Amino acid sequence: MKLKIMFATIAAAAALSLQAEVLPAPQTTGGKPMMQMMKERMTQRDIDPSQAVSKQDLSNILWAAWGITHDGKHTVATAMNRQELVLYVVTPTEVSRYNPEAHTLTVVNEGDFREAAGSQDFARTAPLNIVLAVDTAKQDKVEFQAYTAGAASQNIYLYCAQAGLKSVLRAMFDRVELPKALKLPANERILFVQTIGH
Ligand SMILES: Cc1cc2nc3c(=O)[nH]c(=O)nc-3n(C[C@H](O)[C@H](O)[C@H](O)COP(=O)(O)O)c2cc1C
Repeated sequence: MKLKIMFATIAAAAALSLQAEVLPAPQTTGGKPMMQMMKERMTQRDIDPSQAVSKQDLSNILWAAWGITHDGKHTVATAMNRQELVLYVVTPTEVSRYNPEAHTLTVVNEGDFREAAGSQDFARTAPLNIVLAVDTAKQDKVEFQAYTAGAASQNIYLYCAQAGLKSVLRAMFDRVELPKALKLPANERILFVQTIGH
């Protein structure tokens, strides 16, 4: 009986890790002029809990933060091309990991983990949190890790300005519970969480 339960658990875990959702293609042309977006970039915390972020916006946000652009490289520069950024997506129903090469999301945990992603009220109820983590095995210098996460965050802020979305970069997250919710590998470290919505 115990063996049966063990196999069922393993099968469920395997099924969860195999679910790769293909995102809509990112919209990489058009939009508002860059100078205008920079002027409009701002932190806004009055996020409506009842209005979801569309899949197209999610696709564009992930691409802006860490999509592939040229020669297998990304929208953000990395010191020595270490490409250490790892993005996780926390929604009201699941946690997923972004795969920039295939532009897909893989579910790593099912459930509502927004409380772990942010102790502030607006973060607990917002429809979308992007976790900015780094692979410390690829880059161990904290100043380079911080540059990479910061540049990705700014790209998200700029995309939100252009798309009429609200956004807040946050250093306030649960440092014990969020790694568990993400099933974070030992070599990864969370730097920030960015909350997004309407
Ligand atoms: C590294 C960093 C960490 C931040 N952490 C939080 C946070 O935990 N919670 C929050 O509400 N805002 C946070 N913010 C947002 C700042 O409060 C906000 O950027 C600042 O007030 C300036 O406003 P602006 O973004 O509209 O220019 C953070 C910003 C940065 C850059």
